[in-house]
Amino acid sequence: MKYKSQQVAYWFFALSMLLLALQIIYGFIMGFAHMGYDGLHEVIPFNTARAVHTNLLVVWILSGFMGAAYYIIPEEAENELVNVKLAYIQLITLALVGVAAIIGYHFNYWEGRKFLEIPRPLDYLVVINVLTFLGLILATLFKGKKRTTTSLVLTMGLVFAALLYLPGMIWFDNQTMDSFFRWWVVHLWVEGVWELIMGGILAFLLIKITGVDREVIEKWLYVIVGLTFISGILGTGHHYYYIGVDKTWLIVGGIFSAMEPLAFLGMALFAVAMYRKGEKKHPNKTALNWTLGTAIVSFVGAGLLGLAHTLPQVNLYTHGTLVTAMHGHLAFWGAYGMIVFAIIAYTMPNMTGRKLYNTNTGLLAFWLSNIGMLGMTVAFGVAGVAQVYLERKVGIEFGLVQKEIQVHFFILICCATLFTTGITLYMYEFIKYGRPTNEALVD
Ligand code: HEM
Ligand code: HEM
Ligand SMILES: [Fe+2]
Repeated sequence: MKYKSQQVAYWFFALSMLLLALQIIYGFIMGFAHMGYDGLHEVIPFNTARAVHTNLLVVWILSGFMGAAYYIIPEEAENELVNVKLAYIQLITLALVGVAAIIGYHFNYWEGRKFLEIPRPLDYLVVINVLTFLGLILATLFKGKKRTTTSLVLTMGLVFAALLYLPGMIWFDNQTMDSFFRWWVVHLWVEGVWELIMGGILAFLLIKITGVDREVIEKWLYVIVGLTFISGILGTGHHYYYIGVDKTWLIVGGIFSAMEPLAFLGMALFAVAMYRKGEKKHPNKTALNWTLGTAIVSFVGAGLLGLAHTLPQVNLYTHGTLVTAMHGHLAFWGAYGMIVFAIIAYTMPNMTGRKLYNTNTGLLAFWLSNIGMLGMTVAFGVAGVAQVYLERKVGIEFGLVQKEIQVHFFILICCATLFTTGITLYMYEFIKYGRPTNEALVD
């Protein structure tokens, strides 16, 4: 670590880990409810648990991205962060808004729009918070000595992500209009600008870990940004099939969204090619596992499992079923969960000065969490296909079908336990060894 202000990143990572732990608890509540054990129903009904689970997910990922930016931007720009105090204020207010929203959900203080449940007054606080964050990042970047492609792609992703939050704040009385613009946020985030953030972090990690020339890595980054935009923007159409908009979206959405996996394939090939080309001298094997892992698992979860239900002929049947949950889990985990774990694994030894690069605990955490999540994905997939068949082909009523597929949630919970064990091991190392020290500062 070269700049003292990079230590701010640690606290964003700590918030990220805390929220992930909470998210997992709500996941188990829903898993048991699906099995038929909905004992908490009076206090935490399924819809509340679901909103809390998915919103915590978004906030822990965003907190991880912010931590990544606070670490990467000073290093790339060769400048201390312009105002460290403000960054801590931004962290605390982010946590407060998040907690207020989560508590509110338990008392029905929310908007019933999947992923955008956060009530309007809190939206304004989020906007102020994110503007503060972007102000700090942009000022640091432009005051710095260098503006590298990696730092620019990362910053561009963050700025666009903030802008795309706004369409979700427009008020519509019309369901179709509301749905149309909700996807500008949800889809254009995960299949557009977040991919730039992921690409930026991935490029930074590959430069540091493989030792391959920056020029080579950044050329790949351009290709990935290009592929993302070409496919992802019009790919939004795969959410417009049967929502009451023009039928042309069936064709546009089908064709462009089917091209989206190319960007993820690009990232996977990119990471593996750079690893093979590099000198493999960097000692941080844990970070290397997570870096290659995120590139590969995101291709499977987002690219292949996204492709599985993206054509209108398929989506007609699978829309809004557990097939969506199957894809949602492996895509979010592979692309955005694992990239956050990768940057934490890389930065931790640099911030603490402890050279814990290759521990057994770290290795076990990687494999258990990934095997567990893969198992969960399969369980969701099997339950989802059974659901689609019984509910949409045979025509059995929703509630009865849910009873039929309860057994798959036993397997889901077993795999989720494996996943959680991996995460617990990772967090154990983070808590035990993660605190930054000034002695870790090097020139
Ligand atoms: C990292 C990238 C991705 C993430 C995190 C992700 C996550 C998600 C999530 C959470 C949903 C449910 C959204 C909702 O109902 O509100 C969803 C839906 C969907 N995703 Fe993805 N996704 C990603 C990439 C992709 C790609 C590349 C494709 C296509 C090739 C795709 C195809 C779909 C489709 C068709 C749906 C709609 C499912 C339905 O109708 O219920 N996704 N995705
Ligand atoms: C122990 C861990 C977990 C369990 C038991 C669990 C379980 C569940 C369940 C039961 C649902 C609701 C499905 C439904 O609507 O019926 C759900 C939704 C969801 N979870 Fe998890 N989850 C866990 C961890 C995670 C993690 C780590 C992520 C992301 C990295 C995640 C992402 C999601 C998403 C995106 C949805 C919404 C899916 C959709 O739109 O259909 N979950 N989870
Ligand atoms: Fe999408």
